[in-house]
Amino acid sequence: MNNDRRRFLKTSLLGSAAIVAGCTTEVATEVAAKTDPFRPLRILVLGGTGFIGPHMVREALRRGHEVSLFNRGRTNNELFPDLELLVGDRNNGLEALEGGKWDAVVDNSGYVPRHVEDSARLLAPIVSHYLYISTISVYGDFSKPIDEDTAVGTMDDDTVEEVTGETYGPMKAMCESRVLSQVGADRTTILRPTYICGPGDRTDRYTYWPVRTMRGGEMLWPGTPDDDIQMIDVRDLASFTVDCLEQKILGIFNTVTPAGSFKMGDLLQDSLAVTDADTMPTWVDHEFITAQNVGADGGLPIWESPVGEAAWLAKVDGSRAAAAGLRNRPTRETARDTITWWKTLPQDRTEKLRAGLSADKEAEFLQNWHNQDD
Ligand SMILES: NC(=O)c1ccc[n+]([C@@H]2O[C@H](COP(=O)([O-])OP(=O)(O)OC[C@H]3O[C@@H](n4cnc5c(N)ncnc54)[C@H](OP(=O)(O)O)[C@@H]3O)[C@@H](O)[C@H]2O)c1
Repeated sequence: MNNDRRRFLKTSLLGSAAIVAGCTTEVATEVAAKTDPFRPLRILVLGGTGFIGPHMVREALRRGHEVSLFNRGRTNNELFPDLELLVGDRNNGLEALEGGKWDAVVDNSGYVPRHVEDSARLLAPIVSHYLYISTISVYGDFSKPIDEDTAVGTMDDDTVEEVTGETYGPMKAMCESRVLSQVGADRTTILRPTYICGPGDRTDRYTYWPVRTMRGGEMLWPGTPDDDIQMIDVRDLASFTVDCLEQKILGIFNTVTPAGSFKMGDLLQDSLAVTDADTMPTWVDHEFITAQNVGADGGLPIWESPVGEAAWLAKVDGSRAAAAGLRNRPTRETARDTITWWKTLPQDRTEKLRAGLSADKEAEFLQNWHNQDD
């Protein structure tokens, strides 16, 4: 099991139900929709040029909002030449934000609690809404059912600033609590995405499956077609993010495909449909996978063994976000657009997937699997 899923905090400062100005999310959303004529927002995005940021920026612009970017000026500088870029570093370099005027901030790039606390403190008197992108990795125990009220993981040393598989989840949980303490629950939204997928994903964790399928031949598929998996299409996350800003949807939300709605068999069918490949799937049971350590080092991304300490990782309850308006597109669309995007990438990016089994390893494991039958 991947380290960043193993341990997370015990203190949940944020296990509250969604609050929208004192009423439930559904009611407030409905009220906002009925009473508020469209009002363009001035949105500050901390980290708008990585993977998810550009999707959020484009969605906000498409809906007529104004966007300012804050980042160091190192990543994808060419993306938004017409937008205001405030150059600075979250690590002790927030001066460019001083004196700014925005309605809302989207914090995409917060991993270190001190950085998030600094930006939240500085922006709290300036913005009326702080939206922090967290992660489902905050949860402490995936062996049991998970919803937003489940305890998050903790770390003994709250001054650690190195992000590793071990510290990522508890640090993100601490970031959440720093935003809440600086800004207040009545002005904060926290989104906890699972694997974010789709065009632009730099991890290849979802991308591995359709791209490997495209290569054809015998392909190892772990578990059974009925095993649950979850993801969130980056465009659905972006759309829900802007919904939250427009409708002032506050609270904590797991952002995932609905639990139980997406299975490994669906991922296979999506991958076959969008690649038109002659791939032959071989399903390999989870006990063999575990015994052979096939899944180590990101070998079989997104899939988790349906038994054991990560049994609920792919069944996270997303009903609160769905009730607040999160809409998940058909997973086949994600597969189709991921392949379309992949085909536009240069060869030096596509010659080696960043996740998944290498061809040699996969052949070796399949051989071992077949040898068992002899
Ligand atoms: N990918 C997933 O599957 C996944 C799942 C769950 C949650 N998340 C969360 O999603 C969020 C966004 O991820 P991402 O991959 O899109 O973006 P990212 O790589 O974390 O962030 C990149 C953006 O942040 C800026 N940035 C980085 N370090 C900075 C610093 N010290 N000061 C100022 N700006 C800085 C970068 O621009 P410069 O380099 O120019 O500064 C760029 O605009 C993260 O909070 C992550 O925890 C991701």
